[in-house]
Amino acid sequence: MAEISALAFKWAGEHLLLLDQRKLPDEEVWLKCETDEEVAKAISAMVTRGAPLIGITAAFGIVLAAKQAKRKGLSIQSELERASQVLINARPTAVNLSWAVKRMMNIAKQFQHLPEDKIVGRLEEEAIAIYREDCEANRRIGEYGAALLPENCKVLTHCNTGALAVSDLGTALGVIRTAYRQGKVKFVWVDETRPFLQGARLTAWELLKEGIPFKIIVDGAAAWLMQKGLVDAVIVGADRIARNGDVANKIGTYMLAIAAKRHNIPFYVAAPISTLDISLPSGDQIPIEERNENEVLSWHGVRIAPKDARAFNPAFDVTPAELVKAIITDKGVAFPPYEDKLVKLVHSD
Ligand code: MRU
Repeated sequence: MAEISALAFKWAGEHLLLLDQRKLPDEEVWLKCETDEEVAKAISAMVTRGAPLIGITAAFGIVLAAKQAKRKGLSIQSELERASQVLINARPTAVNLSWAVKRMMNIAKQFQHLPEDKIVGRLEEEAIAIYREDCEANRRIGEYGAALLPENCKVLTHCNTGALAVSDLGTALGVIRTAYRQGKVKFVWVDETRPFLQGARLTAWELLKEGIPFKIIVDGAAAWLMQKGLVDAVIVGADRIARNGDVANKIGTYMLAIAAKRHNIPFYVAAPISTLDISLPSGDQIPIEERNENEVLSWHGVRIAPKDARAFNPAFDVTPAELVKAIITDKGVAFPPYEDKLVKLVHSD
């Protein structure tokens, strides 16, 4: 049986270990999940995060549910129905989560006539395949994206789209990594990404490990840097891309895209095909997660806003397709108008 040891998770057959991203960069603590409920809870609490990675971890959540059903003598099919709902409901915006769970459920259905051992084995193979395909998708996205960037590029990115958000290199950060290794990217501006600070804590941690030169900026500094000529390209990831090319991504992305347009700076989105949701005509239909107000009002348990202040905390926004210069996928790059091209990419081999 294959073992996986990725930067953000480990799988050894009986449980899933998740690197607790709430604690980075101060501590590297691993959380053990033995049931689908524990995996779903870890996804909701953002122990683990990033669109492709929550899909991968949910797939292993399904394997854990099947193993548990077999141990307890319960019906695998009905336990998987239950687990699939628990996992899909963990977070609403990133479509990779339901995409991965549905893929696992199709396998369970396809092989339901087999003995239980074989169904469990087949599910485990599928979860590992989802992980491996994502590694390969990262590599391809990196190559396609790096080809778009100019020499000596200063790039700005938002949130964390690196190895902590996927299986391997990353999506937007995978493009940056690849272009840096090719000598094309010389500097990275990292948006701190309030309120969870994926940029300041996680992207900075990854860039330091790789020795890529960068500085963290507050989210509100991005437009000013663009105006000063300090940014050659903006590249971000995505949680869901609608058929017309509208992009849901971390809150603050839309603001960056508007600023990039104002300063004639290319705004690129990098994502695997599993992030495309061509069932949705536009971004208007993408569910946007609203998280607990305490993420805004406090940090590390310390209240930063006045006691009686309230907060509104949408975790994502939608950038209209017209602001996106290109969508970089593992099957190739789409330029506007997007609709036909995205549908073709999804259906191509
Ligand atoms: O709330 P998060 O940290 O899960 O949000 C992550 C993002 O918005 C990423 O940009 C997106 O998931 C792409 S990760 C390759």
